[in-house]
Amino acid sequence: MTSALPYGNGEPHFGHVYEFIITDIMARFYRLTGRDVIYVCATDAHGTPIEINAMKAGKDPLSFVMENHEKFKKMFEFFLISLDNYHITHSEENEKIAHEMFKKALENGYIYTKEIDLLFCEKCNRFLPDRYVRGTCPKCGAEDQYGDVCEKCGATYTPFQLKNPKCALCGSKPVIMKSKHYFFKLSAFEGKLKAWIQNAPLQQEVKNYVLDWIEKGLEDWCISRDGPYFGFKVPGEENKYLYVWWDAPIGYIASTANYCKKAGCDWEKIWKGTCGEFQIVHTIGKDIIYFHYLFWPAMLMATEFKLPTYIHTHGFLTVNGEKMSKSRGTFITAKDYMEKIGNPEYLRFYFASHTSSGITDIDLSREAFLTAVNSVLVGNIMNFVYRALTLLYRYFEGKTISASTYDMEELVEVKNILERIREAYENWNIREVVECVDGIASIGNAYLQKKEPWKLVRENKEKAHEVIAQALNMAKDICIALFPILPSACGKALKIMNLEESWNLIGKELENGHIINKPEPLIPKIEDFQLF
Ligand code: 2FM
Ligand code: ZN
Repeated sequence: MTSALPYGNGEPHFGHVYEFIITDIMARFYRLTGRDVIYVCATDAHGTPIEINAMKAGKDPLSFVMENHEKFKKMFEFFLISLDNYHITHSEENEKIAHEMFKKALENGYIYTKEIDLLFCEKCNRFLPDRYVRGTCPKCGAEDQYGDVCEKCGATYTPFQLKNPKCALCGSKPVIMKSKHYFFKLSAFEGKLKAWIQNAPLQQEVKNYVLDWIEKGLEDWCISRDGPYFGFKVPGEENKYLYVWWDAPIGYIASTANYCKKAGCDWEKIWKGTCGEFQIVHTIGKDIIYFHYLFWPAMLMATEFKLPTYIHTHGFLTVNGEKMSKSRGTFITAKDYMEKIGNPEYLRFYFASHTSSGITDIDLSREAFLTAVNSVLVGNIMNFVYRALTLLYRYFEGKTISASTYDMEELVEVKNILERIREAYENWNIREVVECVDGIASIGNAYLQKKEPWKLVRENKEKAHEVIAQALNMAKDICIALFPILPSACGKALKIMNLEESWNLIGKELENGHIINKPEPLIPKIEDFQLF
């Protein structure tokens, strides 16, 4: 499993945190159900935007990226992201595999060269990537815009269309010059990609987009850049580099290779599909669909690698209904959250309870956040779990009896809900998992309210014991079902219950005489906070 490689270009923000939490929940779910998971990722180190930001920060690109790489690692630790390996694309393994795949694609006839026109600064003696050209927007006339996009009106264009183009480094007027570049024959894969997309179990709405693009015809893809460039050299060239998007997805493979060095597995067997029943599952945001459903599988086809089994695309995270924005104060970094809110599971739960299997955007707002955490998670779900634990501990010294919860008339509904939870997870419909669990907790709380075992215990001790045992069975199901989302709070509850986390325990009654430990509070309500 992978999350998209974040650029080592700044502080990790909520967009990143969202994607890692979603992938992590699924990785933990797969492990919980007994599947072997290797969850890998890496910092995406190369390319022009990173070079520019490093320059602005007065640092060389590698030390700039390494600083951010460390911030990502801290973020993972804090948000309980269970990555098996976190690497960086500027690595030995990645260079080697990126070169090998380039050579293989070349040998197989899928890479060719062509001369193209580019802007060149004679004073700086270098070709100018789009971001190194500034000028007047051809659409709205705004001055001092980048060579590819206007920040004022949002128009996109080529640097040749920009009016009064100037070199962003020295201010002189660039000239047009020819340069030889390497192209990947994406057009050769139209048929194969179409067949793959149609047959793979991918999200339907994404399939529709991608099939539409294929229908309109795919253009070959320029995969090289002139130096100076922060990246890997094109094999056999002195001053040409591989475009960052060539080596970035290969970073998935390289991180696996780096993991295998330590864990003693064989990355080639995994990625070439010659090793048992390994599946390759990517999680990405919808902004990089083109790269993952077209370029990447075509690269894998051209180099005889295995194709992804599933690519999960999610929507964007918005704050108060709008794109995160620095000027509106809604650009939230992981660091802000760590300092101002502190408990990672509030956010994990929030994201879980708002994420369905589709690609619609998910919104974060103060009110919805407080409701999810204080009313649903703490007020209903964990409150029920804690009640069941304390009742058993207080009245029966923590010793349960066998009680067939799922046959009781009042509780038959629970059994039906339990069946839906696994399917919801398998479909990446995490919101439904939360809804189901919330439903069980509501049934449980109402059941306790109705039976009042704290009163019943005086008249009919055995009956009261049975009621509490039934509540405990449900609390156990809740904690296992939510473990992928709340590994800390549910892990703690399962420890109190003296249970290992395993999906096999769901829907099974605890044994007669099973003993629990002294309960402790599981997760507190959130206090007032100042963040969004
Ligand atoms: O869009 C991005 O943030 C890229 N760094 C994602 C790369 S994902 C993978 F293909 F490398
Ligand atoms: Zn210049």
